[in-house]
Amino acid sequence: MSKKVAYITGGTKGIGFGIAKILTENGIAVAISGRNENEVKKASEALSLEDAPALGIVSNVRNAKDEEHAVAEILNQFGRLDYVIANAGMGIFKPVDQLSSGEWSDMIDTNLTGCFHTLKASVEELKKSEGYYITISSLAGTNFFEKGAGYNASKFGVVGFTQAVMLDLRKYNIKVSTIMPGSVSTFFNGHVPTEADEWKIQPEDIGELVLDIIKMNPRTLPSKIEVRPSQPGK
Ligand SMILES: NC(=O)c1ccc[n+]([C@@H]2O[C@H](COP(=O)([O-])OP(=O)(O)OC[C@H]3O[C@@H](n4cnc5c(N)ncnc54)[C@H](OP(=O)(O)O)[C@@H]3O)[C@@H](O)[C@H]2O)c1
Repeated sequence: MSKKVAYITGGTKGIGFGIAKILTENGIAVAISGRNENEVKKASEALSLEDAPALGIVSNVRNAKDEEHAVAEILNQFGRLDYVIANAGMGIFKPVDQLSSGEWSDMIDTNLTGCFHTLKASVEELKKSEGYYITISSLAGTNFFEKGAGYNASKFGVVGFTQAVMLDLRKYNIKVSTIMPGSVSTFFNGHVPTEADEWKIQPEDIGELVLDIIKMNPRTLPSKIEVRPSQPGK
């Protein structure tokens, strides 16, 4: 059987890169995307193994056409698609009276509509492979907080969307899950990880979690997964 193939949106750094790294190391062919051509090239080169090149694709998940093009490139290179991880996301944290309509749209269009675009572009291939569609939501998709109106709305939306998609697609033997992480050490919102972030979940830990769930017995589906640092930060 040919190698399984995964597509991870927003895989140039952070959680997406961590997932891509673990999947590549475990014999899965990987395609990653991002909006910046240089970053996409750098990350795909870093992920490539001698016998397993990683494919880098420039795509903005806010554009349905970009995601259609991304899936076409994956099929052209690898000939199949088994695992789709809708991970690309961003956050702007402000009290709602200071949040602009543009900032609201940036979050909804990227975090929520982006998951829809990625799914629409890949669902027919997932039917063929009886594959897996995973969204990266957040604990912000179940716990609301001050200055989180836009981000909370987008991530609560991702949780609801993914659960409904799970019900629609299980009849095709496609598994669907959402992962809802707490603090992960990434570049999110302009952060630069340092030693002070060691208490947080590391991106590779989310990669191990993805690997565990895609290997799970076909009869069992962990549809909604909360994951948090074992100890809160100091
Ligand atoms: N870090 C946390 O504590 C945490 C916790 C829970 C959930 N999450 C979620 O995890 C996901 C990944 O975030 P992260 O923490 O890994 O952040 P990150 O380090 O900033 O990485 C974000 C990735 O998404 C890409 N991206 C952003 N907007 C995009 C778009 N419109 N189209 C395509 N790619 C795009 C970025 O590349 P470009 O900017 O170059 O396009 C980058 O590769 C997000 O959905 C986030 O909400 C993060």
